Amino acid sequence: MISDAKRIDNLRSQIRKHDYSYYVLDDPSVPDAEYDRLMRELIKLETQSSQLITHDSPTQRVAGFPLDSFKQVNHVVPMLSLSNVFSLEELEAFDKRIKDRLNNDEKIDYNAEPKLDGLAVSLLYEDGLLVQAATRGDGNTGEDITENVRTIRSVPLKLDGKKIPKKLEVRGEVFISKKGFAYMNDYARKYDQKEFVNPRNAAAGSLRQLDAKLTAQRPLEIFCYGVGLVEDGGLAENHNDMLKQLKEWGLRVCPLVELVKGVQGCWDFYEKILQQRERLDYEIDGIVYKVNLKRYQDELGFVSRAPRWATAHKFPAEEEITTVNEIEFQVGRTGTITPVAKLEPIFVGGVTVSNATLHNMDEIGRKDVRCGDTVIIRRAGDVIPEVVKVVLERRHKGVRKIKLPKQCPECGSEIVRPKDEVVARCIAGFLCPAQRKGALKHYASRNAMDIEGLGDKLVDQLIEKQLVNDLSDLYRLDEEALSNLERMGKKSVQNLLQAIEKSKQANFAKFLFGLGIREVGEATALALVDYFDYDLNKIMAADEDVLQQVPDVGPIVAKRIVEYFSHPSNKRLIHSLCSEIGIHWVVPKSNANNSNGVLSGNTYALTGTLTSMTRDQAAQAIRAKGGKVVSSISKNTTALVAGETAGSKLQKAEKLAVPVLSEQEFVALVNVE
Ligand code: IVH
Repeated sequence: MISDAKRIDNLRSQIRKHDYSYYVLDDPSVPDAEYDRLMRELIKLETQSSQLITHDSPTQRVAGFPLDSFKQVNHVVPMLSLSNVFSLEELEAFDKRIKDRLNNDEKIDYNAEPKLDGLAVSLLYEDGLLVQAATRGDGNTGEDITENVRTIRSVPLKLDGKKIPKKLEVRGEVFISKKGFAYMNDYARKYDQKEFVNPRNAAAGSLRQLDAKLTAQRPLEIFCYGVGLVEDGGLAENHNDMLKQLKEWGLRVCPLVELVKGVQGCWDFYEKILQQRERLDYEIDGIVYKVNLKRYQDELGFVSRAPRWATAHKFPAEEEITTVNEIEFQVGRTGTITPVAKLEPIFVGGVTVSNATLHNMDEIGRKDVRCGDTVIIRRAGDVIPEVVKVVLERRHKGVRKIKLPKQCPECGSEIVRPKDEVVARCIAGFLCPAQRKGALKHYASRNAMDIEGLGDKLVDQLIEKQLVNDLSDLYRLDEEALSNLERMGKKSVQNLLQAIEKSKQANFAKFLFGLGIREVGEATALALVDYFDYDLNKIMAADEDVLQQVPDVGPIVAKRIVEYFSHPSNKRLIHSLCSEIGIHWVVPKSNANNSNGVLSGNTYALTGTLTSMTRDQAAQAIRAKGGKVVSSISKNTTALVAGETAGSKLQKAEKLAVPVLSEQEFVALVNVE
């Protein structure tokens, strides 16, 4: 029998290794269940023999009591800041200064690292044990946040490995991933708490909790990027190898770090990481270049609180500050009223932005955006610019809350907002010119009827001049009408007329999508077309129950479809498009309505494994005989074909009294001539 003390030691070192794999390497070594078992065993043994509990045990991450305040910590080696460069010229100048000072003509080796957008912390290890963690503060004095930092699972409480200095102060950035941030805000919304503005603020707020139990609930992480105080120990002679040492001792280092040569190497790295920026799961705001050789770093030294041997190459800012000149309400193709903030133009995220969507009235309420407000605008990657928040300190007196207009700004009709919906709509439908424009743009768009030459500007003219009042009017346009429009030469007119003519030979799913039925996107249109055998009459005749048989069509979508087709003006429109104008589509052979098939009118669901054929083959066999295959069972299903190890569908069939066919019975059925 091994002693408790030995077993405890053994469990701790196993858990430390697993923590390292999981939190530092992002590469879990055992399933969660196994980890939990080890942890539970350790907790049990430590509870039985509390004299064996040590401060570095993995069970001791969370402190007992909240603090009254944070103690101050002196940084023996000051925590400096970095100079900045914003362009190639500035980067070249930085490199030249270094070469001049070193009297060196050769290309300099730089260690290039993402500049993490979090908070700088210092971690002090003595004899390999974490004894203190501190914020940067003013660079000389920070706050003691040891209890909080101990809760961060990627911070080892004990270092492991060879040649660890007796005293080692590691510096790094504490941050919250984009995923962690989204999770925190989902939680905040659910419990009606204030949301965090960005991951950096969320990290700052989490790190400065006096009660470490709260910090422990926040998804904080760390990447280490340097050292401060070092006593009694040999560190590598260059930065890149030093980071490797930190990694070996169990500290987490950003995996994107790279050794590069000269200005060109720095520039290439910058471009490469900028490309990846959006896809990274953590926020970075630039690249840090550091002269790699420690000897050179020492020679270069510091100037006014920043090292000469390092600089930050900033990415274009994703957030900027500007003012709201006006709030406009735009009308979408289904009548949705979208508030848009008209901004004093501002360069952000690499482009000049003058509009930012406010989504809906709830969003305006949440953010309390008003005309004349100073706001923070965010544009990240290709994402639509948005208002992050209002800078309330800069609000002028007397600005009034934004109210939803009572009337549509385009047609003056009533605006309604159903009780349980977030969006407000203009009720005029196709009578509202904005909705007519939207509908026609959607119909002509690439993923719908793809009518080349029918761009947004032209659509606006067609609607404004009342040349097109409903979609079918598009097919009544002639040379004379079109040639009177702006920027429509003879050639463009002919090309457009040809494109319109060509669209009469349609793809049914794209046509159906192009009609702009609410909730019917491309995938739903495809599913409908397939389910109803390319037969528009069947779709129009289907009630909500039948529609819900279609894969992925739920009650709301079904309701919208029925609503659309029950509207007399829509019925008239379809009639003119299909009967008078002659829009038609080809029905693929496999979908041809095999109404003579023996299974015609019947629907089947499949479950379990069939031995003589795959499920796809079974489905094909059913369709070939005119039957239909559905993915879920309802009382309208003709029968369930159940193979081996049939699952929950079998139970559902029995509950709904839907007949169940064995594989043999099924084979016999599809083999009937
Ligand atoms: S090195 C003496 N490396 O940027 C060198 N800093 O403006 C000092 N930061 O407060 C820092 N990522 O919080 C360094 N890879 C990185 C960094 C980084 C983010 C932050 C750090 C510091 C600020 C300097």
